[in-house]
Amino acid sequence: MAQLWKGRFKKELAKETNDFNSSISFDCRMWKEDIEGSIAHATMLGAAGIIDKSESDKIIDGLNGIMADIESGKLKIDMSAEDIHTFIEGELTARLGQTGKRLHTARSRNDQVALDIRMVLKKEIDEISAKLKELILVLCNKAEENKNTIMPGYTHLQRAQPITFAHHLMAYAAMLLRDLDRLADVKKRMNVLPLGSGALAGTTYPLKRDMVAELLGFDDISANSLDGVSDRDFCIELASALSLVMVHLSRFSEEIIMWCSWEFKFVELDDAFSTGSSIMPQKKNPDIAELVRGKSGRVFGDLTTLLTVMKGIALAYNKDMQEDKEAIFDAVDTVKMCLNAFTPMIDTMTVLKDNMRLAAAKGFINATDCADYLVGKGLPFRDAYKATGELVALCIDKGLTLETLPLEEYKAVCDLFDDKVYEAINLEKCVADRLVEGGPSIQSVEKQIENTKKVLN
Ligand code: ARG
Repeated sequence: MAQLWKGRFKKELAKETNDFNSSISFDCRMWKEDIEGSIAHATMLGAAGIIDKSESDKIIDGLNGIMADIESGKLKIDMSAEDIHTFIEGELTARLGQTGKRLHTARSRNDQVALDIRMVLKKEIDEISAKLKELILVLCNKAEENKNTIMPGYTHLQRAQPITFAHHLMAYAAMLLRDLDRLADVKKRMNVLPLGSGALAGTTYPLKRDMVAELLGFDDISANSLDGVSDRDFCIELASALSLVMVHLSRFSEEIIMWCSWEFKFVELDDAFSTGSSIMPQKKNPDIAELVRGKSGRVFGDLTTLLTVMKGIALAYNKDMQEDKEAIFDAVDTVKMCLNAFTPMIDTMTVLKDNMRLAAAKGFINATDCADYLVGKGLPFRDAYKATGELVALCIDKGLTLETLPLEEYKAVCDLFDDKVYEAINLEKCVADRLVEGGPSIQSVEKQIENTKKVLN
């Protein structure tokens, strides 16, 4: 397919140049937005009297025809075209002749591509946000079923204090809520129409940019034409927000992987969402979680690609910027693919509550509560801490737990102890007493679930 810029060139383009220069293999996914953008542009050109209304109508009909034909499969995108913009404009001209050639009046591929990416990515943000909401809802429902499921909370991967599985899940819900918020914020800044920036210096035609913005659902128009064509902050911001989504999914995956091991056995994944080994018949592997953890690297890589591509480019458009699309599309596709598999994996996993409770019983995770009990009796916290530390050492020596250590031993370390201590260190009570906002008590977790669900609606 011929280039749009043939005029001053005397020779045919070398095949190597065309292959290297072409972006249609990855920008073809913007075909619909490219046509929608062109329809809005043509509508405005007609309304502003820049081209005849009758010609603008013909162009719009022609573009709608191309859209219908691509949708129905009647028209195949020509992969030898330089890019999707060239293909659509070429097809329009093939269909309409002279009239088709008027579409590109007062427009450059530079502002056109800046428009198309924004339109595509706005939709992707909506799709990813919907998928995140699905996952958050699954977490809320699982949390609802596990408000009483005591498990050890960890620091340094050492058992630390008692929490519930619901509380643990709602920590991920909190992270994902922030991700949602970040995506909405990225979309806000992305939602600015660059069309009208021309190649770099705007245009002498009396464009109605606000009209195009309204037709295409943009909140505003870009303030500076150089920036309008060469800003890719929005891709970087999106890749950054998506990188954080992947950080969160990856941390969660790591925990799922550990929890599936015989060493933990806190959860069992559904057969439909785990895999086996070709040699070891006993194996049931958490491949989805491992792949999600692994694929986080791709998305961080995409972010690095975008930052690196952009950092040294003089204003305004440079061809380097064509590299934006593969990176940001890969980030978007990877996150969607991960969420598609991750959400049902979590939804269908079985929580092995008894194993969590057994793990909670070991590891002295009620030691802080034991110290707090002495604080309640008037002892300064540091002294209470030391006394409890001695008790833990004693338990380790004797192979006991704080629950099974006889009262005499308690009293020998500190005479403020009485038999009420056993109640104070009861794990269920330790959790129930953590009523502070954000804590693991049933009431507090219910509030977390309620507030989270409010955001989802
Ligand atoms: N395929 C190009 C890109 O994605 C479209 C813009 C071309 N502009 C130009 N001045 N060559 O960046």
